[in-house]
Amino acid sequence: TEKENTAIIILGASGDLAFKKTYPALFGLFKNDFLPKSCQIIGYARSEIKLDEFKKRITSKIKVSDEDKAVLERFLEICTYCSGSYDKKESFQNLDKFVTNLEGEDDRKKNRIFYMALPPTVFISASEGLKENVYSKKGDNRLIVEKPFGKDFDSSRVLSRALSKHWKEDEIYRIDHYLGKEMVKNLMMLRFGNVIFGAVWNRYYISNVQITFKEVIGTEGRGGYFNEFGIIRDIMQNHLFQILSIVAMGRPVTLDAEDVRNEKVKVLRSIKPLSIDDVLLGQYTRSADGKNKGYKDDEGVPQDSYTATFAAAVFNIANERWDGVPFILKCGKALDEAKAEDVPGSIYPGLARNELVIRIQPKEAVYMKVMNKEPGLSNAAVISELDLSYTDRYSLSRIPDAYESLILDVLKGEKSNFVRDDELDAAWKIFTPVLHQIEKEKIKPELYEFGSRGPASLSRWIENHGYKRTHGYQWKSTKL
Ligand code: BG6
Repeated sequence: TEKENTAIIILGASGDLAFKKTYPALFGLFKNDFLPKSCQIIGYARSEIKLDEFKKRITSKIKVSDEDKAVLERFLEICTYCSGSYDKKESFQNLDKFVTNLEGEDDRKKNRIFYMALPPTVFISASEGLKENVYSKKGDNRLIVEKPFGKDFDSSRVLSRALSKHWKEDEIYRIDHYLGKEMVKNLMMLRFGNVIFGAVWNRYYISNVQITFKEVIGTEGRGGYFNEFGIIRDIMQNHLFQILSIVAMGRPVTLDAEDVRNEKVKVLRSIKPLSIDDVLLGQYTRSADGKNKGYKDDEGVPQDSYTATFAAAVFNIANERWDGVPFILKCGKALDEAKAEDVPGSIYPGLARNELVIRIQPKEAVYMKVMNKEPGLSNAAVISELDLSYTDRYSLSRIPDAYESLILDVLKGEKSNFVRDDELDAAWKIFTPVLHQIEKEKIKPELYEFGSRGPASLSRWIENHGYKRTHGYQWKSTKL
């Protein structure tokens, strides 16, 4: 409103996340008129960078058509930069002055949003410095943080405690960018807005659920960072588990953020800590044709690394709705295709099960494999599909990036697509023992070639854990 001013302060503004994701997302919001009328975007980082230079950097990942060039110019007018350290009081006091100066001394409400695009090492000191020196006393304050939230249950708790010393849970927005993806946001609507799905969404009709994340790229220079975390922490414990909890949760009392997150926590608390017997680990080697490097050839990865770049794991949700239905989660880098999908229903056991596929990316789609009589004089049953492919059905020229949607939620104070502290705790409880065991016993991942389907034993492993492929069926859509 006219009576408010909003300052968005990006810490770590010279880093990768900021210029690849945060600034392009802010530009997308600006272009579509979703930023507050009176708004300043302040970049903050250690290095002294000239404003012109900084603007060049933040626009390097923003693609604009000729007609949008003028919009970009207007966007850049609200972007400024201030340098300073992440652990010095004076630096933060200086930042406060910088922001106050831009806000002006009038009597409008002065909201401040702090986006911490920062490495974990400076996370705590920065959140303290902000609270003590840059916190707005004349408006709402919101703090956006992003993974890694620790490496296990204890280290995550240390971070949570440090944050909660200065910030109220209500002010903290923990990003899991998968929650901003269009199809993930659609999951609740599919489930609770369609009586036909609601009726069969349980162990009586669903034989197994699979959630798959496949990437064709390897770690590409991020190996040094990745090696400390591995694929379970990078993808499974957060992104895939968020999807799992939305697929599995009960109907929330209302769509209110706390009601939704209460249901998610209930699901997580019904899952026992993962056992090593229920995990398959893999690590990619160079491609068969030698063109793509193996994981250990990536910069910063030690030769004796046993960090997994692929993981499959099976979970049982011990509640009335799901007990006995395997939830099979798979994720990996350097695979044969790029795909993120959720297959919640092999509804009805038997030869030709119905299968409901929810494709998150690329090319959002929901389709269901159904039995159909072969058209013509034959009476044979064939598997066919009911298909809702977004590109065919909707004329939306562009689906907003996940970060755009999430930053808009922060501006609105809408919290249901952010991770609550007890969700984080519950997820870490499930993964911490197995992660420690893998590290302590140095459990070796099975090697797979760059560009392959993953470890050779994967199909057998999946069959052993409750799923048999319906042979002979290929999803034939040319649209995907
Ligand atoms: C990040 C992981 O959280 O998600 C990356 O750290 C991964 O390793 C990325 O590549 C995938 O996100 P998206 O949006 O490209 O599917």
